Amino acid sequence: MIKNEENEMNIAIINGQNHKGSTYHIGRMLAERVGGNITEFFLPRDFSDYCVGCSQCFEVGAESCLHYEAQQPIIKALDAADLIILTSPVYVYHASAPMKNFLDHQGHRWLVHRPKAEMFTKQAVCISTAAGAGMKSTNKDMADSLFFWGVSKIYKMGFAVRAINWKGVTDKTRVKIDRQVEKVAGQIRRHYGNVKPGLKTRAWFYAMRMVQSKFGWCAPDVKYWNEMGWTKKVRPWKK
Ligand SMILES: Cc1cc2nc3c(=O)[nH]c(=O)nc-3n(C[C@H](O)[C@H](O)[C@H](O)COP(=O)(O)O)c2cc1C
Repeated sequence: MIKNEENEMNIAIINGQNHKGSTYHIGRMLAERVGGNITEFFLPRDFSDYCVGCSQCFEVGAESCLHYEAQQPIIKALDAADLIILTSPVYVYHASAPMKNFLDHQGHRWLVHRPKAEMFTKQAVCISTAAGAGMKSTNKDMADSLFFWGVSKIYKMGFAVRAINWKGVTDKTRVKIDRQVEKVAGQIRRHYGNVKPGLKTRAWFYAMRMVQSKFGWCAPDVKYWNEMGWTKKVRPWKK
């Protein structure tokens, strides 16, 4: 995203849990360390409707989703954010069900369908905590969606906190967390205003550009890519 006049980042935190445990605290700590306008959401409190698998979002448009209106506060914050933070505790080695359900609702935004142009210049962080293990697969659950939404710079932070809540996290672990948070916050600040997609994102973009131009099997996707000018010379990461 281009820097705004106040040079303040818009930060959207989407927590895959309602409670303020270790995962929430680390996400919040990172956002505050980066600094900016922070908007936070909790799932399922702020969005709890399950995807019914009607595929209307793919075949007709996102507005046809039964839960379109309910998602809008989060979607608006997501689209306006310079930095997206997704958090989830590890539940049986994966992201929480409310987080997964939210991500399911965004399938139509994947690069293979109709990604939002503004995603290609955003940064995002996946944060997970576990008692012992499962952070890698949990962060991957969230990072897969971020990548396929087109987000160009994705950081992953996983912590084995050996605790079931924030109070139970030892000082020694907190020091480690603090160090990692400081490091990632610095990287995010350095990249702000200068984020461009890497090779993997570009490769997917150009592969899908060819698909949409030559084969296009989903009419709304073909229409979208044409309207965006992406099948011609326009690129979502260039102004
Ligand atoms: C339903 C459930 C499943 C869990 N599964 C795992 C797991 O697979 N691996 C693990 O190490 N910890 C697991 N835990 C422990 C939590 O991931 C861990 O305590 C985490 O730090 C909690 O984060 P929170 O304080 O933000 O709630 C599980 C906890 C719950 C409630």
